Amino acid sequence: MPANALEEVEPLRFTPEVEARTEPVYQRVKDVIPALEWPLFAPEIDAILRLKRDRNAIVLAHNYQTPEIFHGVADIVGDSLALARRAAETDAEVIVQAGVHFMAETSKLVNPEKTVLIPDLEAGCSLASSITGADVRLLREAYPGVPIVTYVNTSAEVKAESDICCTSGNAVRVVESLGVPRVICLPDQYLANYVAGRTKVEIIGWRGRCEVHERFSADDIRQIREGIDGLVVVAHPECPPEVIDVADFAGSTAQMTDYVKTQRPPKVLLLTECSMSDNIAAEAPGVEFLRPCGLCPHMKRISLPKIRRALETLQPEVTVEPAIAGRARAAVERMLAVA
Ligand code: 13P
Ligand code: SF4
Repeated sequence: MPANALEEVEPLRFTPEVEARTEPVYQRVKDVIPALEWPLFAPEIDAILRLKRDRNAIVLAHNYQTPEIFHGVADIVGDSLALARRAAETDAEVIVQAGVHFMAETSKLVNPEKTVLIPDLEAGCSLASSITGADVRLLREAYPGVPIVTYVNTSAEVKAESDICCTSGNAVRVVESLGVPRVICLPDQYLANYVAGRTKVEIIGWRGRCEVHERFSADDIRQIREGIDGLVVVAHPECPPEVIDVADFAGSTAQMTDYVKTQRPPKVLLLTECSMSDNIAAEAPGVEFLRPCGLCPHMKRISLPKIRRALETLQPEVTVEPAIAGRARAAVERMLAVA
């Protein structure tokens, strides 16, 4: 159970009616949510499903959200790229972003006329806070004429100073789409490294890092492999380069998920945020996951009670300053046009 599941919002009651209405949801998550915890989640899920209908709202959930959110209340799930794409297509009037702030900003950028809510405004990202718009302007001065590709894990202010955005799922394609010999790739040092290893384009990076993925080490992986025969290791490109070198596959969270669902390795270690193993496990019986605890404290600020409260109050709403929104949107839309 997430530590903050019961904070701040009055708990609801687990009645026989709630139990019956949420039974189909429980069947989807029963392998990853203990029966003992279900009475805490079910009333919240029941209330959120009703509120979504009343508000003409959808919940977009990133792959790192906990299973009761991911499988219980989300309408659309995926990596940052899929969420940006699907946000741009929705007819709903209200979008609740079960993810971190930069993801909600991206949804707002592609849906300026809609109400975009984030259940906790403090849900940040160590990559997004590693760089400012002023830093990007200085880089542009230092490297005149070199295009700036910005990871979506950044603020709208930083996107506004960039030429085009990318995600971990399309970074190489975006860089190569520019048709130039040299590109600045911000702010993740390790993603820049990953791209540099897969293209002939020269990559200039920045010093940002993901506080979750930078902790994985190649030595740990080697030791774990020695103890477990046939273990398949799948890594996110935000991991250090030496970790990606010892992995069997690297890709965005959606690409990691697809890899496990299609290859069905019997034993898997996912080098990424820990909820992803739970979310895939609910749909991939027969795959055993080794689960080191790589928890993103920002993603974990989102809980069912906070999603319910956001739908009840239509707060906190995410807005983007008009002075930067147009340029930031253009950078996101250029990315969506590439891949
Ligand atoms: P993805 O785009 O691969 O989902 O990554 C987002 C993220 O924050 C990874 O830490
Ligand atoms: Fe940011 Fe890392 Fe958390 Fe992803 S896992 S949201 S990159 S801090």
